[in-house]
Amino acid sequence: MALKILGTGSYLPPRVVTNDDLSKQLDTSDEWIFSHTGIHARHIAGEDDCTSTMATKAARAAMAVAGVKPEEIGLIVVATSSPDYNTFPSTACLVQAALECPSTGAYDLQAACAGFVYALDQARCWCKVNTTKKAIVIGAETLSRVVDWKDRSSCILFGDGAGAVVIGEVPGEEGPDSHTVLWADGHGAGFISREGGARRPHEFGTVAIPYLVLQGHDVFAFAVRALVKVTNQLCEKLGTTPSELDRVFAHQANGRIIEAVARRMKLPLEKFYLNLVGTGNTSAASIPLALDEAVRKGELKDGMKLVLCGFGAGLTYAGTYMQWPYL
Ligand code: UT7
Repeated sequence: MALKILGTGSYLPPRVVTNDDLSKQLDTSDEWIFSHTGIHARHIAGEDDCTSTMATKAARAAMAVAGVKPEEIGLIVVATSSPDYNTFPSTACLVQAALECPSTGAYDLQAACAGFVYALDQARCWCKVNTTKKAIVIGAETLSRVVDWKDRSSCILFGDGAGAVVIGEVPGEEGPDSHTVLWADGHGAGFISREGGARRPHEFGTVAIPYLVLQGHDVFAFAVRALVKVTNQLCEKLGTTPSELDRVFAHQANGRIIEAVARRMKLPLEKFYLNLVGTGNTSAASIPLALDEAVRKGELKDGMKLVLCGFGAGLTYAGTYMQWPYL
């Protein structure tokens, strides 16, 4: 048996908001945003879209590529920090209904921007036991509805979208080794947060509207350390070196974070897939969106050594080493 990514899919809402558009309502500029983040534009969900609808569209695309029917799906995991409801029903249940998958478990997974890697690992373990069924793993976000569009230090970063993969065991094939590492550091919980939960009342601040709040500098420094650490750990575990990797799909948060990781690891920037220039930071959706784009461009060849790695609120960070398309 070999566990494989059988298909990828993605969806970006059609409306594009450029840095120049933002500079008409905020004290900012394309020059500042691009030079500090590598982002020129992002897609923003219209009135007809939300996290579950975008997740469904991405999942449908991945199922079509994989050639699987709804009745073959046994698990749907949606990694998201911007679910349709706060907090139930889960977005994954809404996706299950829209896809008409009759016999599947479905749940949301909240590990912020590292969520897709976490979800992929959970689905991977599930598929190893439930070998006759397939799983859909989705990263989907509508962060445009949780950021403060008056806060120029955070809103310029984010965009909406969804990416999905269908995975499953394939009999009669042997896959190469893969490995995943998952990490958390709750001491950094205050670096990225959003009010609106069920904490003890005296713990709430004075923020009236629960927007995303970001300590950019702290997250930047943590992100570089985290991505370097998980990539090195994975290579060590697999007995390889970072220089032997063909491609790194790092969370598309900020191009300068990825440049700093490449410098620190002494790797050419070309090893790192970059598409945030046109998408912005789509949080849990960023890695599957990038993966699907690379697949559609024909950039992934069988056997390529990949690391998928992310970091985010929590703090969380995680990475998967795989030889495409084996997990
Ligand atoms: O998915 C995980 C989510 N979060 C992240 O990955 C965020 C990681 N951090 C970052 O990407 C960066 O820290 C930011 C892009 C958020 C900020 O970049 P920075 O280089 O750390 O800028 P800064 O916060 O140090 O601000 C520098 C200056 C400040 O002005 P003064 O105090 O030096 O006069 C800011 O007020 O730039 C100002 N500034 C802006 N100016 C124009 C902050 N945002 C903007 C803006 N346009 N949009």
